[in-house]
Amino acid sequence: MIVVLLLLFVATCHHVCDALSATPSRRDFLETSIISSTIAVASSPAVATTTSSSSSPLTLPPLGLGAWAWGDSLFWGYDPRKDDELKEVFDYAVSKNAFFDTAEAYGLGRSEELLGKFRNAAPKEEGDKVMIASKFAAYPWRTKRGDVVKACAASVKRLGQPIDLYQIHFPNAWANEEYWEGLGDAFDQGLVKAVGVSNYGIDAMHACHAKLASRGINLYSNQIQMSLLYRWPLENGLLDACKELDVKVLSYSPLALGFLTGKYRKDSLPSGPRSKIGTRLYEDPEAYENLLGVMKDIAGKYDAAPSQVAVNWARAKGTIPIPGARTINQAKQNLAALEWTMTKADEMRLDEASVMVTGFVTPDASPFPPKDINTGLKMFDS
Ligand SMILES: NC(=O)c1ccc[n+]([C@@H]2O[C@H](COP(=O)([O-])OP(=O)(O)OC[C@H]3O[C@@H](n4cnc5c(N)ncnc54)[C@H](OP(=O)(O)O)[C@@H]3O)[C@@H](O)[C@H]2O)c1
Repeated sequence: MIVVLLLLFVATCHHVCDALSATPSRRDFLETSIISSTIAVASSPAVATTTSSSSSPLTLPPLGLGAWAWGDSLFWGYDPRKDDELKEVFDYAVSKNAFFDTAEAYGLGRSEELLGKFRNAAPKEEGDKVMIASKFAAYPWRTKRGDVVKACAASVKRLGQPIDLYQIHFPNAWANEEYWEGLGDAFDQGLVKAVGVSNYGIDAMHACHAKLASRGINLYSNQIQMSLLYRWPLENGLLDACKELDVKVLSYSPLALGFLTGKYRKDSLPSGPRSKIGTRLYEDPEAYENLLGVMKDIAGKYDAAPSQVAVNWARAKGTIPIPGARTINQAKQNLAALEWTMTKADEMRLDEASVMVTGFVTPDASPFPPKDINTGLKMFDS
């Protein structure tokens, strides 16, 4: 049995490595995202865009704050000396009724620990308001439903509170059905208020939805990459499929890792893994610069920042964006997106400009297994 598992793991690694080698920029982003963690909506904040389901009392706010960078050294170069500023970001986000998106894999638990620590330090009234979405890492060696419950309990311990939304972080090449049972068990045991998936394609989402429904549990959400530079879910039907199932969409990397904030230019690209993505974007500078120009123009109309344009475009598509922020200025700027809503004409201008841009990461080089090798189920679309 162990030999079989090892063989399957090696086979998966081969598959992943093949996929990773296809698009270096995508490889740098996703590989580091996973490895650094493995081996490593509305015009007012008070208005929620989501509705509760019969099995889930959760109503998620229209905007979240991504906490991947909080504790992650490999991709984001986390510096513990800046924890005081992260606490400031935390307090500000809570005051604005944003929720936090984290994962057991981010900084190997550090992101969850920081959130738990900041919550404990907050006045009770504020601490009680904290809403957290976290994730189970579908590592190849995790094959049992009990693995989900165990990991979930460990996350709850680090966070010091039940999890509002618990998501399967990414598909595995096997054991996916076990994970869905595990999600259901975590829900039944009261460890979490709602359950979701992440990086799931259409077929996998349908299958998970059906499995949970057979236990009377609602699949609350699918967290997927979507931004003006990553439009695949709009184009391959995934976004529509989520809407048809009434599965909320949490759009991750809505600022395209900072490339939609307007602060990077050809001669001032970010260092580390993101530099290669920037280099690729500048292989066709005209389309990318044009998009940034349109964003700046729209931002000017609302006396807003380009990052808010990126966030509000994702809201206009019916998703709940979770932009990452690690400085108080970033958090203030991004959360202020809730103070205005773009017009349909703005949205269309942005669509027209963004479809022309190539060079950002693409789904074909994703490290996620496209299929469950045991069931043949297609797991990942974009
Ligand atoms: N489910 C998944 O597989 C998955 C994958 C990726 C991300 N996520 C989630 O989605 C969240 C957000 O995605 P992300 O962090 O990958 O990327 P993102 O939100 O597209 O970009 C975040 C980065 O952009 C820069 N930034 C943010 N606000 C800014 C502003 N107002 N002005 C200028 N720069 C700004 C910051 O980087 P600098 O400080 O370095 O400039 C920040 O860390 C993550 O934290 C995580 O919770 C999930």
